Amino acid sequence: MATFGTVFMPEMALSTFNGTRWSDPEQVAADAIRLHPGAHVLHYASTCFEGLKAFRHADGSVNIFRMEANIARLCQSSRLLSLPEVSAEQLEQMILSIVKYYADEVPEPPGSMYIRPTHIGTEPSIGKAAGASLTSMLYVLLSPVGDYFTGGVRPLRLLLEEEGMRCAAHMGMVKSGGNYASALQPIQRARESVNADQVLFCPGGDVQETGAANFLLIDGDEIITKALDTSFLHGITRDSLLTLAGDMGMKISERELSVDELLERAAKPGTEAALSGTAAVLTPVGTLIRDGRDYPVGGGVQGPTTEKLRTALNAVQWGKAPDKHGWLTRV
Ligand code: COI
Repeated sequence: MATFGTVFMPEMALSTFNGTRWSDPEQVAADAIRLHPGAHVLHYASTCFEGLKAFRHADGSVNIFRMEANIARLCQSSRLLSLPEVSAEQLEQMILSIVKYYADEVPEPPGSMYIRPTHIGTEPSIGKAAGASLTSMLYVLLSPVGDYFTGGVRPLRLLLEEEGMRCAAHMGMVKSGGNYASALQPIQRARESVNADQVLFCPGGDVQETGAANFLLIDGDEIITKALDTSFLHGITRDSLLTLAGDMGMKISERELSVDELLERAAKPGTEAALSGTAAVLTPVGTLIRDGRDYPVGGGVQGPTTEKLRTALNAVQWGKAPDKHGWLTRV
């Protein structure tokens, strides 16, 4: 399988906002868009996106996981970035029509079709550093994918970053390009210095999330993860996993977690940690790294609860377990 997110379907769904109204969505070539070099997005990062997946079931049908929640989050991100209001109904139609068009290309599990709705400010106006883009473009790209992390599902190494932040404290819940860009340098440095896969941002000792996924600590039958606030992404996979864990009778503790408590619990046998996200699904964490020292979690291997939760999530996504929460939309 090619590197995650590098192969695209040749066409995408697209609509533009001209300051007054949205154009009728059309299907266009997905290899280029026309943008003025002074477009707002290129200077002031007025861009947000989503990541959701369509899955092929054994009966051949194609089903999109948690489409409404992802659309709602893109509408919210657009508002928080002062981009033009997105119509949830229109975006839903765009997603459904392009996924339907490429239904035959949706890979069999464990693969899936990654759906990337993207909204960008297009107004050519480099003076608008303090003003919103009045025009915008919304498009839905598709990319057939397998595992996100190279090497598949394997215990990851996470560097704890206690000084820097992933993004501005009030912007963490926005799925915007700028948030990912600001995490790039720390991640790159962590790779080079301690062979880490990701950075776990813990400003002032507050365990938040990594550059690409939410963080869950699993201690026996309890899941501990930061309570929703503006500082980190409100992961839809996180929400799905917490719901499934609740269904299994696990205790969900959404609360502050300090680095000291994290390391103390991680040292106990049986503790697990994992990253959750559309791309990451639920990937085990084997090692935390602080001040150049490795702290293995759960003996450094994937724990049974992480595996059980990922299997339960995949079972719903792949149509192998009842969709009790109404998370799937058949295209
Ligand atoms: C996702 O999990 O869908 C994301 O958007 C994260 C990205 C780094 C692939």
